[in-house]
Amino acid sequence: MGHRGAADRLRELSRRLETLKLCGHRYLDAAGAEDLKTWAARHAPSVSAPIEAAAPPPKAPSRRPAAAPSGTKQEQLDAINAEVRVCVKCPLAKGRTNTVFGVGDPAARIMFIGEGPGAEEDRRGEPFVGRAGQLLTDMIEKGMNLRRADVYIANIVKCRPPGNRDPEPVEVESCEPYLKRQIALIQPEVICALGRVAAQTLLKTATPISSLRGEFHAYEGTPLLPTFHPAYLLRNPAMKKEAWNDLKMILRRLGLAVPADKKSP
Ligand code: URA
Repeated sequence: MGHRGAADRLRELSRRLETLKLCGHRYLDAAGAEDLKTWAARHAPSVSAPIEAAAPPPKAPSRRPAAAPSGTKQEQLDAINAEVRVCVKCPLAKGRTNTVFGVGDPAARIMFIGEGPGAEEDRRGEPFVGRAGQLLTDMIEKGMNLRRADVYIANIVKCRPPGNRDPEPVEVESCEPYLKRQIALIQPEVICALGRVAAQTLLKTATPISSLRGEFHAYEGTPLLPTFHPAYLLRNPAMKKEAWNDLKMILRRLGLAVPADKKSP
């Protein structure tokens, strides 16, 4: 707004304040972020006679700390999801059909974090619903004896990297704040990082997944257990046994029953 625009606006405000005074208003309760002009217009919409007497310029509204986020965890997750749906912070936005935010119980004790949506996830807007997703669901339901809906499942990046390539650092950097906010809201007791990209991103390390898996690490104070990605397990079924050992560590950590060993899912 130029000087003239600002001066006009101030004059208009002064006029409205005077009008309000004439209407008997003595105090302005323009609390918080409510715009003075809007307030004035709402309280004296029909009084339009210009009053030329200058009123003191309105004081700049005092800066209040940002309001604490409100709503249930689900509502707060929905609010983040609404931001993700329109996100264009990185080049992945151009190629997506749907953003893939996350699913599950907002109060989940376990959060599974993969790398990024594949073709099927991009099509449906839900994480881990393709072939690897079916295996993950089996690992959770048939292996751990939990329901998929009882855990929370998300990814490092919310849009599909073309051709299922690894997400680029700039894509991870752009998207990570959304994941951080999801984790902060859900406050899982254990995070299970699925595969190299998730584990290395969250732990800020270049150590190979084969060395990281099999023991708990910490992600900002939350125990994090890396394990093999289900897509890797589809290609290397002999490693399912190791992944099952990892999942049993999570169950034990949470004091949950460990189903007797059976043929891995
Ligand atoms: N692989 C992932 O890492 N995430 C998905 O959502 C699907 C496949």
